[in-house]
Amino acid sequence: MIVPRLIERKRNGRALTRDELRELVLAYSRGEVPDYQMAAFLMAVYFKGLDRDEMTTLMEAMLASGSHLDFSHLQIARVDKHSMGGVGDKTSLVLAPLIASLGIAVPMISGRGLGHTGGTLDKLEAIPGFRTQMTMAETTRQVEDIGCALVGQTAELVPADKKMYALRDTTATVEVIPLIAASIMSKKLAESLTGLVLDIKCGSGSFLPETEKGLELAKAMIQLGESHGCPVVALMTAMDRPLGHACGNALETKEAIDMLHGGGPPDFVEVTFALGAEMLLLSGVCRSMEEAHSEMRRAIAGGQAAEKFEEIIAAQGGDSGVVSDTSRLPQAACEGVYEAPADGFITRVEPRAIGHGIIALGGGRLTMEDTVDPSVGFVITVKPGDKVAKGQPIATVYARRKSALEIGRRTLQAAIAVGDAPAEGCALISHRVTASGVENFTAHG
Ligand code: URA
Repeated sequence: MIVPRLIERKRNGRALTRDELRELVLAYSRGEVPDYQMAAFLMAVYFKGLDRDEMTTLMEAMLASGSHLDFSHLQIARVDKHSMGGVGDKTSLVLAPLIASLGIAVPMISGRGLGHTGGTLDKLEAIPGFRTQMTMAETTRQVEDIGCALVGQTAELVPADKKMYALRDTTATVEVIPLIAASIMSKKLAESLTGLVLDIKCGSGSFLPETEKGLELAKAMIQLGESHGCPVVALMTAMDRPLGHACGNALETKEAIDMLHGGGPPDFVEVTFALGAEMLLLSGVCRSMEEAHSEMRRAIAGGQAAEKFEEIIAAQGGDSGVVSDTSRLPQAACEGVYEAPADGFITRVEPRAIGHGIIALGGGRLTMEDTVDPSVGFVITVKPGDKVAKGQPIATVYARRKSALEIGRRTLQAAIAVGDAPAEGCALISHRVTASGVENFTAHG
């Protein structure tokens, strides 16, 4: 294999053969192709794209670069949910225990927050003692024992993706649909799933803000899943404002626990239930949306979902007492109330500004090496369209020090706009995408 010839061919807009692409990816994973050549190749892909066969080959080569979880011996459905990330998105913390409490295996491999977006692992690690780095053998055993594990990617699982994603992150080559689709689907198919639900975010806080691009990504991922016997359903959901009220790791964990006890802000509950219903339909445990919604409500009202979360936390070394007493989560030293600056309607709650504000408070990361303070963040109780009166409390800043409250206040001032009339935003859930096509979303439950 002569790597410069492959780079040149892609640069000139031509396709690589299956064998060429597979060998390039596997050789890079083994350390036989230097970063500078792979970076040049990825930039050529950024401009010239990959066709369908190349995207499938890339994903298969990534899968072949490491080991897989193997649950083929389990006689139950194995379903996961993947979100494209955003601000305030804590649905995984509810869905994993909720769906597992209904008898479905949920082997959930998640990521950390980076830039303005949060990450499930950071929210879980807000729970004292919770361990997210587990071996593949430990993860397999826990899924066999209690039906769910909430863990980070290991060195053995899809190492080619780990290396390529880190390189893409530093060479401005992340936002390429076939690369994103192959990257995510390689990790999801390595979980030995029988079904996958995608939460594709649209709007200013998403890293693919336009709905058309989100739909394209959904279709690419659905095609990759179907080609490997894993049915995939995608919902397009709004990320032009944070999801729910809490933004910041421990605050979000608390809000997720509130929902497991039957509470939670309406938008967070609606998106979580919509994704959960798709998981239950894919698993075959429920036959209709109505049945799926009523099963989830029953598992929450009966306490099984909260108990399953306690079981998962205890199995992963954490303080399961947080589920009945959220004051055991890390608490910020200082709080400051933020009031509406004028009478009118909320026209904007900009998620990127809130995400960057969390970083400024010490609760997020700019590089993977940064450490996070789980206690800090915001609780924002208004949404675009809400009517407010000047001086009405609309948010709270949680900070380590009194001096940082001012950073939080300035963030909210920049992120939240009040105008004379309500503004149009993204629909909370706009589309449902399956292998059969795209439909407008219909609410149930
Ligand atoms: N998340 C991933 O895991 N991979 C991508 O390419 C983008 C987001």
